[in-house]
Amino acid sequence: MDDYKLLIDLHKEGRRQGPGGDAETELALNLAMINRAAPLKIADIGCGTGASTILLARLLNARITAVDLLEDFLDVLNQRAENTGVADKISPLARSMDDLPFADEELDVIWSEGAIYNIGFDKGVAEWRRFLKEGGLLVASEITWLTDSRPAELQKYWDNQYPEIDVASAKIRILEKHGFSPVGYFVLPEHCWQEEYYWPMQARFEDFLNRNGNTAEAREIVTAEQHEIDLYEAYKSYIGYGVYIARKLKMNKLVSSQTV
Ligand SMILES: C[S@@+](CC[C@H](N)C(=O)[O-])C[C@H]1O[C@@H](n2cnc3c(N)ncnc32)[C@H](O)[C@@H]1O
Repeated sequence: MDDYKLLIDLHKEGRRQGPGGDAETELALNLAMINRAAPLKIADIGCGTGASTILLARLLNARITAVDLLEDFLDVLNQRAENTGVADKISPLARSMDDLPFADEELDVIWSEGAIYNIGFDKGVAEWRRFLKEGGLLVASEITWLTDSRPAELQKYWDNQYPEIDVASAKIRILEKHGFSPVGYFVLPEHCWQEEYYWPMQARFEDFLNRNGNTAEAREIVTAEQHEIDLYEAYKSYIGYGVYIARKLKMNKLVSSQTV
């Protein structure tokens, strides 16, 4: 079994595959001032097993395309959507987030929790923009430095994991650079990391190792996850998940008209 399959095996039973929470998804929805009665077309990109997708389907009058690279996660999402009675509002799509099939200005909302980092925040914001209608909303959570400087051990670890990690003002600048107007920003509280993600994952470690013959590869994955958890616990005042909410602006014609 290669690492990829092992990672799927460790994570697919999780309600979430990254930090987040239902109350926080709903808070983002409220900050975005989305009309819950309006018929909306939404893509939830990097949806994993669908915690946010299913909640959005329950709360909104929306058709949601649930995009993830991994069929295994989408299979779990499908089952959960059936169990929750919202399967008819959700279309799963196994596809890479850098090769999306949407038409220009097709979507009212792009939602993405803990996933845009897979292609990088800058590239994701730039490439996904064209799929949104003018005035459409982007809601994306992204790992974020909470302070201007931080301990070297933490900096080194995350620079290696995700070189684009930065402070919120830099992320907001990227949104502005790509023709979005920031609408809201908040930081996920600790329980979104612990109760919602790290602790349930830790509780699965033993079964995961047993199921996979306690191989060196499986143990390596557990060690790596545990290291990330330990760093979070040691340094959580420096690092968080920012939730960024931004509205797509009209294409900026001002620059060209000014130069005429
Ligand atoms: C940290 S998880 C977050 C999942 C989910 N949004 C949540 O909050 O529970 C990142 C997700 O991105 C997916 N992913 C990774 N690379 C991807 C890609 N290139 N295109 C689409 N999804 C991808 C993974 O399969 C995984 O489900």
